[in-house]
Amino acid sequence: MKIAQFAEFGPPHEVVSCVEIDELPDPVADEVLLEIEAFPINPADLLTLSGDYAVRPKLPASLGAEGVGRVVQVGPDVRQISIGDRVLPLGRDNWVQRKIEKESNVISLPNMDAHQAAMLKVNPATAWFMLHDYVALQQGDMLLQNAANSGVGMNLIKMAESRGIKTINIVRRPELVPLLQDKYGAFAVLVSGPDIAGQVAEVAGDSSLQLGVDAVGGEATRLLAKCLQPGGTVVNYGLLSGQPCVIDPHDLIFRGITLTGFWLAKTLGASGRDQLEKVYAELSKLVAQNVLHVPVETTYPIDQIKAAVAHAGRYGRSGKIIVLPNQPHAAMNRSVPH
Ligand SMILES: NC(=O)c1ccc[n+]([C@@H]2O[C@H](COP(=O)([O-])OP(=O)(O)OC[C@H]3O[C@@H](n4cnc5c(N)ncnc54)[C@H](OP(=O)(O)O)[C@@H]3O)[C@@H](O)[C@H]2O)c1
Repeated sequence: MKIAQFAEFGPPHEVVSCVEIDELPDPVADEVLLEIEAFPINPADLLTLSGDYAVRPKLPASLGAEGVGRVVQVGPDVRQISIGDRVLPLGRDNWVQRKIEKESNVISLPNMDAHQAAMLKVNPATAWFMLHDYVALQQGDMLLQNAANSGVGMNLIKMAESRGIKTINIVRRPELVPLLQDKYGAFAVLVSGPDIAGQVAEVAGDSSLQLGVDAVGGEATRLLAKCLQPGGTVVNYGLLSGQPCVIDPHDLIFRGITLTGFWLAKTLGASGRDQLEKVYAELSKLVAQNVLHVPVETTYPIDQIKAAVAHAGRYGRSGKIIVLPNQPHAAMNRSVPH
């Protein structure tokens, strides 16, 4: 079977390759054998390949933070899952044609679009936890985020909107404004540039603005901190700029702003099975109902993993890059929310 692998850290599309390995053995005990239908290429996967992620695996290594699979075989002690079920694997190393997981490490999914299902584990859950765990937001409150057209950003807009929370969104390309406002329900979309802080203040008016959600780092963190009201919290969850988070000591000391970080892997690792089932049941319902939907720019077969990874690293994509590892000639597919 084919898997994506890398044997050294470096430019992601150069170091990744598709290799042929032996087929997996039959699942035993409480194991299930999955055929992976689809997996996305996330920024964390690119960081893993370049050696800049939190975890540096022993090389050569397989990778892939998420994906979705169909159960094709079950071990004798599997109780809740049947052949043909579509499941979300909670483990890593999903850039493969087939994988074995324990029954306790997968979540059964309702019927939904395979591309969206492949993106369920990471970004919707990241948005969900950042919305729920830091500031007790009430209906009518606002939050401020950057990289708002990212997968996480779009999920956050929709989740906030469904709770009556208004989002002020910063993007770096003007053409994204109508998409996020008209199709996603963003309250305001601002394009990075001079005087963003003034524009945020104007949009926020007298509303409560206590939560800043930062995927970028560097000066972008400072901007979010400046825009929040005293006592607010900036949650950094990404390092898209590659720069350390900057924050003005005045904001920390005199305005009581908190800067903290979120990492989904840590949160999932600390969550019990009941909590995971509850969160993913809620998220999969929202995806199945098309409330949460992230555009897909195109799909690739796994043998073209280098091209897929190079594409995922490009500036200004219109959506995610998805790999269909069991379809030899993955078709071009653009998708936007209905
Ligand atoms: N901490 C966690 O647990 C966790 C979980 C999930 C994701 N993340 C992080 O969240 C971020 C977004 O992930 P995603 O999968 O949602 O992304 P994505 O859908 O692949 O989109 C990438 C986004 O990053 C923007 N971007 C890239 N480089 C940038 C820069 N230098 N300055 C500002 N914006 C930049 C892109 O803007 P353009 O469209 O204009 O190119 C786009 O909005 C990544 O940093 C990822 O690592 C963290």
